[in-house]
Amino acid sequence: MTLSSQRFNGRTVIVTGAGAGIGRATAERLAAEGCRVIAVDVSADRLTALADEVGGEVVTVSADIADAAGIEAIMAAAGERIDGLANVAGIMDGFEPTAEIADATWERVLGVNLTGMMRLTRAVLPGMIDRGAGSIVNVGSEAGQRGSAAGTPYTTSKHAVNGFTVSTAFFYTPKGVRCNAVAPGPVATSIEAPFRSEWAQTRLGPFFQTNLPPVAQPSQLAAAITWLLSDDASNVSGAVIPVDGGWAAI
Ligand SMILES: NC(=O)c1ccc[n+]([C@@H]2O[C@H](COP(=O)([O-])OP(=O)(O)OC[C@H]3O[C@@H](n4cnc5c(N)ncnc54)[C@H](O)[C@@H]3O)[C@@H](O)[C@H]2O)c1
Repeated sequence: MTLSSQRFNGRTVIVTGAGAGIGRATAERLAAEGCRVIAVDVSADRLTALADEVGGEVVTVSADIADAAGIEAIMAAAGERIDGLANVAGIMDGFEPTAEIADATWERVLGVNLTGMMRLTRAVLPGMIDRGAGSIVNVGSEAGQRGSAAGTPYTTSKHAVNGFTVSTAFFYTPKGVRCNAVAPGPVATSIEAPFRSEWAQTRLGPFFQTNLPPVAQPSQLAAAITWLLSDDASNVSGAVIPVDGGWAAI
């Protein structure tokens, strides 16, 4: 793809999960469009590869977003002015149905997919409100629109991402801060999704065989995320946009 736009010249955007998949593609695209990218990942090795391979201004922060100390490290690296936040980092469950959920799985999935997103958003908001400008983009999932795409912990976390997005948009759009989400269908990334439940395999299998759209590329998600981060989407706030090859229409 040839990019001619420099929509993010002079801007700073934090991207979580920037070491792989959708987050990495988002970081690459932002850097190519002139952005100073604060690239966050729990994997230091992946961040090193990103910094080596991607041109432009990329500041790497090795941090766990589910950890309060991680949020502090991200904010310290970003500095005073933060124009955008892409909450991309997330993990799958093991397709556990409710009766089979281990507390540790529930806490980790909700901790990363929801609480981490809340804490980092809460941290960037005061600066954005002071400047009267900012854009926050959360990565949800088609699992946030239906019950037949994942296990209960992941499905719960992604439905909550939608609520978090619209509530944040409701409160802060009048202050100049937009908040939106994208809901991907299947994307070719390194996310791990092992089936740990026999009943889930039986129940979900037929849906996966008949209903799934073709697997998308991370760059297709990055295009939607960077659009929402940019001023091209200046009148869009509180939207949860399916970027899923039409799955939401089924
Ligand atoms: N791949 C898909 O099919 C798909 C579909 C729908 C939604 N999503 C969502 O897209 C987002 C990105 O997923 P992906 O598919 O690109 O996965 P990925 O595993 O390829 O990339 C996610 C990155 O986030 C990092 N990460 C995980 N936990 C972290 C934490 N606690 N703190 C900081 N970094 C952390 C990982 O190290 C990894 O580099 C997730 O929110 C996921 O739920 C993915």
